[in-house]
Amino acid sequence: MAKILFPEGFLWGSATASYQIEGAWDEDGKGLSVWDTFCRIPGKIKDSSSGDIADDHYHRWPQDIDLMKELGLNVYRFSFSWPRIFPEGNGTVNPKGLDFYDRIIDRLLEKGITPFPTLFHWDTPQALEDSGGWANRDTALYFADYAKVLAEKFGDRVKNWITHNEPFVVAIAGYFAGEHAPGKQDPQAAMHSAYHLILSHGLALKALRETLSTDSEIGITLSLSPVHPLTSRNEDIKAARNMDGVFNRLFLDPVFKGSYPEDMVQILGPFFPEIRPEDLKIMSQPVDFLGINYYSRAVYRHDPDFPLVEATQVFPEGNEYSMMWEIYPEGFHEIIKRVWNDYKPAKIIITENGIPVPDGIDFDGRIRDERRIRYVKNHLKQVHRAISDGIPVKGYFHWSFMDNFEWALGYTMRFGLVYVDYSTQQRIIKDSGRWFSQVIQDNGFED
Ligand code: FCB
Repeated sequence: MAKILFPEGFLWGSATASYQIEGAWDEDGKGLSVWDTFCRIPGKIKDSSSGDIADDHYHRWPQDIDLMKELGLNVYRFSFSWPRIFPEGNGTVNPKGLDFYDRIIDRLLEKGITPFPTLFHWDTPQALEDSGGWANRDTALYFADYAKVLAEKFGDRVKNWITHNEPFVVAIAGYFAGEHAPGKQDPQAAMHSAYHLILSHGLALKALRETLSTDSEIGITLSLSPVHPLTSRNEDIKAARNMDGVFNRLFLDPVFKGSYPEDMVQILGPFFPEIRPEDLKIMSQPVDFLGINYYSRAVYRHDPDFPLVEATQVFPEGNEYSMMWEIYPEGFHEIIKRVWNDYKPAKIIITENGIPVPDGIDFDGRIRDERRIRYVKNHLKQVHRAISDGIPVKGYFHWSFMDNFEWALGYTMRFGLVYVDYSTQQRIIKDSGRWFSQVIQDNGFED
């Protein structure tokens, strides 16, 4: 048995996102988001559900924060709902929207839990989508106004800020694949969105820096995956390299290098917006940390029939799979190390990692989610390995705090440390929650 101990001051937390937990989709002056609209289109959500009620966190947040306290979380990552604060995306602020987060932030601080908000976790105001959403450059400008309002209101108490969550998913799932809101299938809109999302990150970063005190830390969260070729044949290596560009470099390069990867500009060229040198400067202002969301690796093979990137994903035999992805803990260390070698962020925070498990309540009322415990343990070991290599990984947020609305998959996936019975809104701490709580207390675990 080896002891896996984390450095002193390592942050242990858990994450959620507004649309996935809040519910109250039209309460207290909230405007529509693209997800409110998207969920109403038949066939878009696997179980035909929506986030209308979700975990009803909008009304149950005091008990939820009590549960966070019971688990002993040091930090809590949540997201602000942009249309709750700006029902039309810009213009008039809805004070009741701000009040909701004000109460949450105060209560977290009262309980000794550090709030770690994300400005945008996918719920674009529908009013902005009506003028093109992220494909429209104006959305990036409005995002900076929204950031400023948040910083002015909460900057006295909130010291850690994340601009975006996984811009890759917004651009590609939302505007290219059409699997997420707003459900577009338009490669040009997707590439323009990818660009404007990173531009908006830079503009918001600037607005936050101008408004917040200097002891505040600001970063961006990216979903990153190592991409492996199916074989060592050149065509497969090229296919994997292309997909690495799409998943990783298209977002890392502008933020950390102030440039776009040449191979991507070439391959995706006709769909790219004009790259303006002054934009690159805005995009690449220094961040205090990079947030990494890691779930799995991706394996690709050459496929001449797939336009541009000429790549198709394959699911190799030999490893365990979850309900959504291959389970591949080594990829966690690989991607952290690669990001460190290639981009040297000031520090890294793991802002999401977790597994969907078909949890059920056992005869005695317990949820024995051994598989989740195993997954988190094996992944934390890889984070620990990266720290032992000298890489400054400063915290780990488990996705998610509680079961919630998993986007296009509705309520068919459970990711929480806390189980939610959607018919009664009862919460039950799973075995993984108890285990994680012990990890926090011990700042590590026996392996
Ligand atoms: C990430 C999202 C998060 C959740 C997990 C499972 O891509 O950021 O909201 O859906 O996946």
